[in-house]
Amino acid sequence: MWDFFTTVRNRHSVRKYQGDMPVEEEKLHAILEAASAAPSAGDLQAYHLTVVKNADLRKKISEIAEKQSFIATAPVALVISTDTQRSQQQFGERGRDLYSIQDATIAAAYAQLATCAAGLSSTWVGHFDGEKLKKILSFSENYEPVAILSIGYPAEMPEPTPRRPLSEICDVLE
Ligand SMILES: Cc1cc2nc3c(=O)[nH]c(=O)nc-3n(C[C@H](O)[C@H](O)[C@H](O)COP(=O)(O)O)c2cc1C
Repeated sequence: MWDFFTTVRNRHSVRKYQGDMPVEEEKLHAILEAASAAPSAGDLQAYHLTVVKNADLRKKISEIAEKQSFIATAPVALVISTDTQRSQQQFGERGRDLYSIQDATIAAAYAQLATCAAGLSSTWVGHFDGEKLKKILSFSENYEPVAILSIGYPAEMPEPTPRRPLSEICDVLE
């Protein structure tokens, strides 16, 4: 396992997977544990994690995600959704419209970094039809998918993508 900064430096989106290499159960468990360790508003964990291993479902998901076929070739698709009602019950509109999305997104980011630390690769997919995804996964109205992580062993080593300089994205007020 890598330390935090090595993990952050080495995480790159991978869109080609070794389809015949399954994700070990211990690693999957560690990824889900990492997601659940993320901070959340009121400690409510107002999100839901759906682990999709089923190949037919992954194919369907890739189709409603603008035919991003790598989702079907990765052995696991992890769908991260808000549990809107859970946050709304405690925090009202702010819980529904902001905290539940933040809770789900932070959990997804933790899962993505844990995936990398475990020697696996992923891509965060945000381009999908949420309503169709909810149907495919038989979700209640309450769950709103915010991200899909395709997870598996890489079959490519992409070049790191450039970042904006810190001077452009950060102000220091002293
Ligand atoms: C909110 C969000 C949505 C994204 N949606 C997609 C997507 O639908 N398909 C895809 O291939 N990559 C998607 N990405 C991955 C980005 O393209 C990628 O993270 C970015 O280009 C930086 O590259 P890196 O992850 O290798 O550092 C998404 C990333 C984020 C955070």
